Amino acid sequence: MSFKDLPIMPDKKKGVLLFYPYVSKKSAVNIKKKLSGRWLGQGPMVDKFENDFKKKFAKNFSVIATGSGTDSLHLAYILAGLKKGDEIITTIFTCTATNIPMLYMGLKIKFADIDLDTMNISVASVKKLITKKTKAIVCVHYGGLPCDMDELKKISKKNKITLIEDAAHALGAKYKGKSVGSLSDFSTFSFQAIKHFTTGDGGILTIKNKKLEDKAKRIRWFGIDRKKKQQGIWKNDVHEVGFKYQMTDIAATMGCDSLKEFSFIHGHRKKIYNTYLNELSHNNRVRCIHDYDKKKEHGAWLFTICVNNKDYLQKKLRDHFIETNQVHFRNDRYSIFKSFVKGKKFPNMDYLENKYLVLPIHHKVSVKDARYISKLINKYAK
Ligand SMILES: Cc1ncc(COP(=O)(O)O)c(C=O)c1O
Repeated sequence: MSFKDLPIMPDKKKGVLLFYPYVSKKSAVNIKKKLSGRWLGQGPMVDKFENDFKKKFAKNFSVIATGSGTDSLHLAYILAGLKKGDEIITTIFTCTATNIPMLYMGLKIKFADIDLDTMNISVASVKKLITKKTKAIVCVHYGGLPCDMDELKKISKKNKITLIEDAAHALGAKYKGKSVGSLSDFSTFSFQAIKHFTTGDGGILTIKNKKLEDKAKRIRWFGIDRKKKQQGIWKNDVHEVGFKYQMTDIAATMGCDSLKEFSFIHGHRKKIYNTYLNELSHNNRVRCIHDYDKKKEHGAWLFTICVNNKDYLQKKLRDHFIETNQVHFRNDRYSIFKSFVKGKKFPNMDYLENKYLVLPIHHKVSVKDARYISKLINKYAK
């Protein structure tokens, strides 16, 4: 395996950075107000952010704001009833955050290969991994492109397996017209620095089974029933081990401000995404990671291409002050996951691992930039 990459590009006036945090301009004023108020930790703004999110992306689901996408995933795995030794199927290609909470819990990870066209979890590979001990499937909508949800749901229903969507990349994405976040048993989102918008750090968990909402809220906060406690019942028992996974009111203030601007944020990203797609898809030396399936509406978090000369292209782009990177890597490169892949084969991942490259896509990238970057790619891709 070769994992050549360039160091991150320093901030310069010239050039295009790969990522740039999105923070609403209103947040400077609103956080200033917050800082002189009573609620800095979890307070009324967290409730508001949950409600605003629910209206936009997850009507009829329980929505729980957390400290990070990773917190949300850990809570989802617990709420799905997973126990030490249970088998869980997940993708080999994702941010390590998808899979690390499985290690907290002693789950047996069964890594699935990816689809060559989309880099999402391969349904064919998932099917081969199902056993009587399988308790859950985790899919990641890579870059914001929804996975094959009909097929995954079918497998989950047939085998009575919980389906969990890591939707950290997929805010605003839709499947058959329905928002990601309102499709399956659990979905998780992230608002760390480089996502569609940031709350500093933060996450959301959406849950289909509303009966789990109270437990989710308890284990988000030590296992304590916060509502009861605030009603003055200070001697309430703690009967389950919880975590400190709540969102703060400071983060939620940023979240509420940016949510109001989401159609601009997503609209701009889609414009950049479509510019790359238009400029690059005719070039047979460049393969865009995309799916023309009309059921899927892209979240436009990442735009990824595959070329045969990834290292050379990346270097040439950097010479022109364009920052690109692979961003996520196959998880079996990390020692912590090695014991789960002994003797296992991932032919599609092997084929793609030195070919894919992520292009800049955020609010500071203009259509003109995207055209210029595409022109360089069309010149240097082999
Ligand atoms: C696919 C995926 N899942 C989960 C996470 C974790 O989110 P967080 O950093 O908010 O914990 C990230 C990125 O950070 C991610 O890319």
